[in-house]
Amino acid sequence: MSGINYSQCWEDSDLLEQALDITAHDTVLSITSGGDNSLALLLRAPKKIFMIDKNPIQNYLTELKLRAPQILDHAQYLEFLGVRESKNRLEYFKQVSHLLSLDASTWFLQHGDVIAQGVMHSGKFERYLNTFRKFLLPRVHSKQTVFEFINQANLEKQITFYNQTWNTWRWRLFFRLASNASLLKKYARQVGTLCGGVIADTNYFKRLERLIYRSHLKHNYYLHYSLCGTYGESCPNYLLETNHRTLGACDPSTYEFHTDDILSFLKKTPNNSLTKFNLSDSFEFLAPEEAAPVWNEIVRTSKNGAVVAYWCNQMEHVPPHELKSQVVRNADLERTLTAYDRLYFYQSFHIYTIVK
Ligand SMILES: C[S@@+](CC[C@H](N)C(=O)[O-])C[C@H]1O[C@@H](n2cnc3c(N)ncnc32)[C@H](O)[C@@H]1O
Repeated sequence: MSGINYSQCWEDSDLLEQALDITAHDTVLSITSGGDNSLALLLRAPKKIFMIDKNPIQNYLTELKLRAPQILDHAQYLEFLGVRESKNRLEYFKQVSHLLSLDASTWFLQHGDVIAQGVMHSGKFERYLNTFRKFLLPRVHSKQTVFEFINQANLEKQITFYNQTWNTWRWRLFFRLASNASLLKKYARQVGTLCGGVIADTNYFKRLERLIYRSHLKHNYYLHYSLCGTYGESCPNYLLETNHRTLGACDPSTYEFHTDDILSFLKKTPNNSLTKFNLSDSFEFLAPEEAAPVWNEIVRTSKNGAVVAYWCNQMEHVPPHELKSQVVRNADLERTLTAYDRLYFYQSFHIYTIVK
């Protein structure tokens, strides 16, 4: 693995938290990814959470996000990760490195540039977003126009601004280029995604337009970051000041990091032991014949009533037909939650209950 692919999570954590509804009785499997969503689940204090990623560096990144609050105060933490400007990041790293596993601290020591620039900006996907934002967006809209767009007083005004000022031919051209499937595949997404078809680029434009019509950007840190490189008035849960102490005080016996493939991890997991699954959009990395054994293992390792949530970006994925009676879709909740999705990348969010 060459580096960090996702230094943030680009799947709406509110949807995930509501779909999984974590309690103190839960044993959770969560794809680590950029860490933001796994940490949001950990903050809900499950009995245990297994954070799994086949890319070890995603686990190192999440260790860093999880453990730095033990030493850094909230303001230093925001500086350290890159939420705020700082010249002290390498100094902060010296203070926190001993809290990390040897593999994680060694990796970051060898990649001081990742720390110095602020880890939250260092993923392949975030670098792609920031390249377009820094170098091409200024040719489409001035800083002032971007600022006005993301700071409209209400949704109605935002829609008017979008139609009258923002949605120009230059913007459409910019967006078409930025969301071009080949560019995304080569420069933004992890190697191995999209085992199969690719949909038309224009879908992203329609999805984004629908989002602009329903989500007030001022409170949408995902779009705020995409357009400004900062979070604005909202932020991921793990960065909230009210969660800082809890994150720093998390009991290490309640979480484990595993560098592993989901299937291989599940094969080592006892029957009837897991209750909640955050599978990110990992089915996008699997051909249908590779996904079937994962579903069989999910059913085997689940307790009755376990909940599985995942996203589909460009390829729709549903569980194998043979498991229909044991893997029951919660379409109503999917519909209710996706109406509030703060992102436009995904064509669907899936929630299933395991019945045994
Ligand atoms: C599925 S990717 C998608 C990221 C996401 N869409 C986002 O926006 O943040 C998230 C993580 O899943 C990991 N991953 C993908 N397939 C996996 C598998 N079969 N087992 C373990 N980790 C996997 C990748 O290494 C990556 O770090």
